[in-house]
Amino acid sequence: MANPSILILAGDGIGPEVMAEVKKIIGWFGDRRGIAFDVTEDLVGGSAYDVHGTPLTDATMAKAQAVDAVLLGAVGGPKYDVLDFSVKPERGLLRLRKEMDLYSNLRPAQCFDALADFSSLKRDVVAGLDIMIVRELTSGVYFGEPRGIFPDNEGGRVGVNTQRYTTDEIRRVARSAFELARRRGNKVCSMEKANVMESGILWREEVQWVHDNEYPDVELSHMYADAGAMQLVRWPKQFDVIVTDNLFGDLLSDCAAMLTGSLGMLPSASLGAPTESGRPKALYEPVHGSAPDIAGQGKANPIACILSFAMALRYSFDMGEEATRVERAVEAVLADGARTADLMGPEGGVPVSTAGMGDLIVKALEASL
Ligand code: IPM
Ligand code: MG
Repeated sequence: MANPSILILAGDGIGPEVMAEVKKIIGWFGDRRGIAFDVTEDLVGGSAYDVHGTPLTDATMAKAQAVDAVLLGAVGGPKYDVLDFSVKPERGLLRLRKEMDLYSNLRPAQCFDALADFSSLKRDVVAGLDIMIVRELTSGVYFGEPRGIFPDNEGGRVGVNTQRYTTDEIRRVARSAFELARRRGNKVCSMEKANVMESGILWREEVQWVHDNEYPDVELSHMYADAGAMQLVRWPKQFDVIVTDNLFGDLLSDCAAMLTGSLGMLPSASLGAPTESGRPKALYEPVHGSAPDIAGQGKANPIACILSFAMALRYSFDMGEEATRVERAVEAVLADGARTADLMGPEGGVPVSTAGMGDLIVKALEASL
């Protein structure tokens, strides 16, 4: 049987440097666990624009469709702010998500014990936290038509985006949230703004329908997304799985990331429907951005990207135990006090560079054998 295939799109800013650490982990699995991956690499975002004049070429798109999993670093940077909207780095990422139909975006917020004091919230609020945000990723206001900037009738302009959801789009992401809940705490909280948006009313009704007809055994609650944001920082442990739309999920997941101590800790998996191989179409990426302000200085935290690879092991390659091995290695390194710049708080720690963190995690993997 062919080796599982991975396409690495390191992207911009700190993307390449955090991805370099993931490559060490992939290499370790080949050398030490006999689990070899066929890895290819290509460009996305600003780095693709610089070479090809587009943030994602058709050839790269075709490669992404053909592999078992895509690993992405980050896209964007101030250098590209002046570009036309259609060729901005972010368009490359949105095209991947849309054309691979990666409708279910899993963003787990887990607080490692060693970082519980580092969060801006009190230790007892975040210690042991383990929640999963499921964000709808291919529809809603980020993709809805009509969209654009148009002249209005008074000589000014009007910017238009459309929040739009169909029954099927809501039901399929709801199913993925209920499936996950069954393997976790069996609780789903759905968030929308049904008090002011028709798309929110439909969202609530369809999630309830999926629950009543297919997952009556899972506990379901509904919350307005603004109240949900408040509850996330008040007492996040009340949640198990949160399912929400594209825009609210974008906001709520950044918020949840800070519960874990740093945006540099949060991985994500973007999954589509199962393909013929039985594996879902899949893209894995850290939730953090390209952080151009610290790029190239060895300050970036590679953990979110490494944990994204762990998610690939779990969700694409059915290697849950190996995924746990990576997560434990990260935990052990943090428990030993190793801290990249973003994790250096008043309580101190042992400062390490991006590469230093990757090397320590490889060592901890080695110690796990
Ligand atoms: C995210 C990011 C992206 C988004 C950007 C980079 C397009 O913020 O993945 O959360 O808005 O979805
Ligand atoms: Mg975001």
